[in-house]
Amino acid sequence: MEQTHSTAIADTVWTNVNLITGELADQGLVTAKNQSVVVKDGRIMAIFDQSSGAALPQAERIIDGEGGWLSPGLIDCHTHLVFAGNRADEFEQRLEGVPYETIAKQGGGILSTVIATRSASEEALLKLALPRLDALIAEGVTTVEIKSGYGLTLNDELKILRVAKQLANHRPINISTTLLAAHAVPPEFKGKADQYIDLVCNEIIPQAAEQQLADAVDVFCEGIGFSPAQSEKVMQAAKACGLGVKAHVEQLSNLSGAALTAKYQGWSADHLEYLDEAGVKALAESNTAAVLLPGAFYFLREQQLPPIDLLRKYQVPMALATDFNPGTSPLASIRLMMNMGCTLFRMTPSEVIAAVTANGAKALKMEESRGIIKEGMAADMVLWDIQHLAELAYQFGPQVIKQRMVNGQITGSGAHV
Ligand code: NIG
Ligand code: FE
Repeated sequence: MEQTHSTAIADTVWTNVNLITGELADQGLVTAKNQSVVVKDGRIMAIFDQSSGAALPQAERIIDGEGGWLSPGLIDCHTHLVFAGNRADEFEQRLEGVPYETIAKQGGGILSTVIATRSASEEALLKLALPRLDALIAEGVTTVEIKSGYGLTLNDELKILRVAKQLANHRPINISTTLLAAHAVPPEFKGKADQYIDLVCNEIIPQAAEQQLADAVDVFCEGIGFSPAQSEKVMQAAKACGLGVKAHVEQLSNLSGAALTAKYQGWSADHLEYLDEAGVKALAESNTAAVLLPGAFYFLREQQLPPIDLLRKYQVPMALATDFNPGTSPLASIRLMMNMGCTLFRMTPSEVIAAVTANGAKALKMEESRGIIKEGMAADMVLWDIQHLAELAYQFGPQVIKQRMVNGQITGSGAHV
């Protein structure tokens, strides 16, 4: 399958590939048959239509795609991958009928993970996060967003972000980090949420920015999280420090958190089951991505569906992510999310592919560099062993990856990456 050449000008040339560009047009995904893709210095240098007869540049490595489909590397744009402990006990309680919100109010939920995470060292957290990340990598993920949010002190939040960034030293992966100090009111601030928000805005956000540990800031705007007024302070502090704005909104109720996120030109508004038309319009106007999280919807056995038709109507970019976390989505499979995007949310296979490529990149403000196969973009690509594009959403489990490339480096195939 591979040949090598000595007088090289390009690093890698993929030949005989059918491209899934990642972009979505009116007719569905933009694709192109019989293409060659030239990679140099970690970027896509050129794309040739093979029928043009143009001579390919010489390269260190030629990979014959044998007519397979080449897509952008998948992007999981919303995870809580770094934490200790698990919440299988709460899973059992919920199966017996205790609601998620009741468990949270009784000091379980997010706070039980906070206790376990605070007492874990960076080494321990790294060790716990690696197999979770490996599960995503084995499915073709090349970029992962990781949130803090299980520390809720300055030191513990920064500890989680440091671990998240370190993962890129251990695996071939791009990591985007998000500070989610406003995830829950920590036990020592019980009844003093406003004071905790002051700490988040005056110390934790500025420190995370100064130490370059976070690309964005997130907030859980919800009855069991923070009010819109508190959330707005967090967004203002994020902006003041030059960080992106993201928010968990409209998951369990409608507090108009999406419109608030849009007001601060948020990168994304996430969950959105209770989003209304005014919120959809606000997202469209601010070009904020809608991140849909079918894993949490499924795992909490929610009934309220996100307004997919309205998001389509107003052309809000829809992304999908695992929301991997111990409480509401212990599901480290982006392919499962693609399947659920179709079966639970009635998205099309084309929409779910765009949702984990081009639109995932939008949710991380990476659309200028990742998520699409185009000249000048980072060379993050996956060669799939599939005949039909819908196969990517249709099945999960058996791995159908032939090759995975991250920033121009081939990182192996199948589960052994
Ligand atoms: O995205 N909604 C808030 N945060 C997580 C849940 C965290 C947890 O229960 O540990 C979510 O669903
Ligand atoms: Fe989340």
